[in-house]
Amino acid sequence: MVSFSSIITSFLLVAGVVVAKPVPKTAEVPVVTYLGTQGPILSSGAWTSKGIVYTSGTVPTFNGSIVAGGIEAQTAQVIKNIGVILEEAGTSWDYVLKTTVFLANMSDYTAMNSVYGALLPSPKPARTAVEVGKLPGAFLIEIEAIAAIPES
Ligand SMILES: *[C@@H]1O[C@H](CO)[C@@H](O)[C@H](O)[C@H]1NC(C)=O
Ligand SMILES: *[C@@H]1O[C@H](CO)[C@@H](O)[C@H](O)[C@H]1NC(C)=O
Repeated sequence: MVSFSSIITSFLLVAGVVVAKPVPKTAEVPVVTYLGTQGPILSSGAWTSKGIVYTSGTVPTFNGSIVAGGIEAQTAQVIKNIGVILEEAGTSWDYVLKTTVFLANMSDYTAMNSVYGALLPSPKPARTAVEVGKLPGAFLIEIEAIAAIPES
């Protein structure tokens, strides 16, 4: 039987997407990168199980501070932070199956989409995008992701 990840890899190759070759983790383990998450007391950066990694809701911080700039800069930083977490888990944005985008204000939807659309590899993951009443901190955006971990 052809494995799911090899199907995805073939599809991405056909689509002309550069497929990263990360070193996968085998056991069920926490991903301890805390970039843009609540930190070790409340969460792990992500958790892996059965070849899938589930990230925490990740916010636009860099070196512990919210990034300067509006929704565009914040969206780019969240995508970057999730990329670092995925890398520790042995995968990358190329293998993300699903994202959930939480916006503090739906007025930022179009601007968020322009950055999201440009930075994420295609084909794009499945996605849910919603406005929430409020995010912790003064964050405009938080994103969580579910990704497959490719076989080595
Ligand atoms: C972020 O933190 C790292 C490690 O402490 C430091 O080397 C780097 O200069 C910092 N970057 C900025 C832009 O503050
Ligand atoms: C959302 O953004 C719009 C446009 O900037 C602004 O008019 C509105 O007050 C904001 N809503 C909230 C709840 O902050």
